[in-house]
Amino acid sequence: MGKNGNLIVGLDLGTTKTCVIVGEVHNGGIDVIGFASVPSKGLRKGMVINIESTVDSISKVIEEAELMSGCKISAVYTGIAGSHIKGINSHGVIGIKDSEVTKDDISRVIEAAKAIAIPLDREIIHILPQEFIVDEQNGIHEPLGMAGVRLEANVHMVTGAASSAQNIIKCANRNGLVVKELVLQPLASSESTLEDDERELGVVLVDIGGGTTDIALLKGGSIRYTSVLALGGDHITSDIAVGLRTSLKQAEELKLHYGSTLEGLTDKNEIIEIPLSGGTQPRKVSRQFLCQIIQSRVEEIFKLVHREILRSGYRELMAPGVVLTGGTSLLDGIGELGEQILDLPLRVGYPNTVGGLSEIVKSPLYATAVGLILYGRKHASNGGTRTQGYKNIFTRITQGTKNWLAEVI
Ligand SMILES: Nc1ncnc2c1ncn2[C@@H]1O[C@H](COP(=O)(O)OP(=O)(O)OP(=O)(O)O)[C@@H](O)[C@H]1O
Ligand SMILES: [Mg+2]
Repeated sequence: MGKNGNLIVGLDLGTTKTCVIVGEVHNGGIDVIGFASVPSKGLRKGMVINIESTVDSISKVIEEAELMSGCKISAVYTGIAGSHIKGINSHGVIGIKDSEVTKDDISRVIEAAKAIAIPLDREIIHILPQEFIVDEQNGIHEPLGMAGVRLEANVHMVTGAASSAQNIIKCANRNGLVVKELVLQPLASSESTLEDDERELGVVLVDIGGGTTDIALLKGGSIRYTSVLALGGDHITSDIAVGLRTSLKQAEELKLHYGSTLEGLTDKNEIIEIPLSGGTQPRKVSRQFLCQIIQSRVEEIFKLVHREILRSGYRELMAPGVVLTGGTSLLDGIGELGEQILDLPLRVGYPNTVGGLSEIVKSPLYATAVGLILYGRKHASNGGTRTQGYKNIFTRITQGTKNWLAEVI
């Protein structure tokens, strides 16, 4: 697929931007050797709504990334999000055949945990192990070879609308790209921004992008709860456009240059001038009013996040707090407002753990894309050089399960 075959490519199909990171794997680490980002045209609330425009954005961004890295890209790890995503915890129990856990027992217990009714129009995106229980002993991460008679598995299953998954795969395939795996966006962001301690002790990852807010709760090293809300920074922009009667483009500029969620700290006499076309006098608006609009929407987003944290049942275990990623986490004052509403310590997550051109991608905007290459490195069965990807949903699911099993075993 590239110069030396040790490449892993992440394609983040966001609502506002489509970006690609090309990673080169070496002795356990990964270097960024290519990066490109273009505005997304065919997505809404994290989902593809226009195939042609999405195919177009992918084509542009891949071409740019190929130029920069000097590599031909043929396979990608791609993110998936949208309010159709559902995460559920499930449990499987089997009898151990020969009083010692074998690979076959592990496959069977996962099958047992998977055996819950999933409607035909949904598909399994991830089966994430939480723990195995051998007889009465819980908290086991590697049960292979353990003695016992009864094996149980707790897993977190992420499912999504099959049509949404197929549309993403179709857009990539139309560009001659194989999708190696679809990865839940907050899972990818968690790979690039969380510390091991946070993953172990309990942390809430919140990625506020343009069209969605993705939530993942981790504890004991694994995912416990996932949810995707159909709200993001673009809603703030449209509120500004409506509230101040401007175009979306102007509203976005006002948000980026003068926006803050600290309405109370804004000077109430500060006036912003909005340039108008056709030589007309610029229109004057109060900055405090702008910040009031922003604050109300951000408050709403955090209240919904809070509701999800409570719903998860893990609120009391999230002592280390919240890590915020996505472009909206760059909004002035958002950390303070988030801490206040969620009543938890909060930090903004900058992706790390990569080398090479890492400075270019060191922004919460690229947490998902960096996470995709880290996820790829972790799960690629042969260093990311596999050229046969998922031709259809069914091979994809089995392959995904196999990769997971390979990791557990
Ligand atoms: N400096 C900034 N201050 C405030 N908002 C910002 C800033 N930079 C980017 N944003 C906002 O972040 C949003 C884009 O974030 P991001 O790139 O993470 O979204 P996305 O991945 O394209 O979308 P999604 O993940 O929701 O599908 C936009 O709404 C943009 O206005
Ligand atoms: Mg995103």
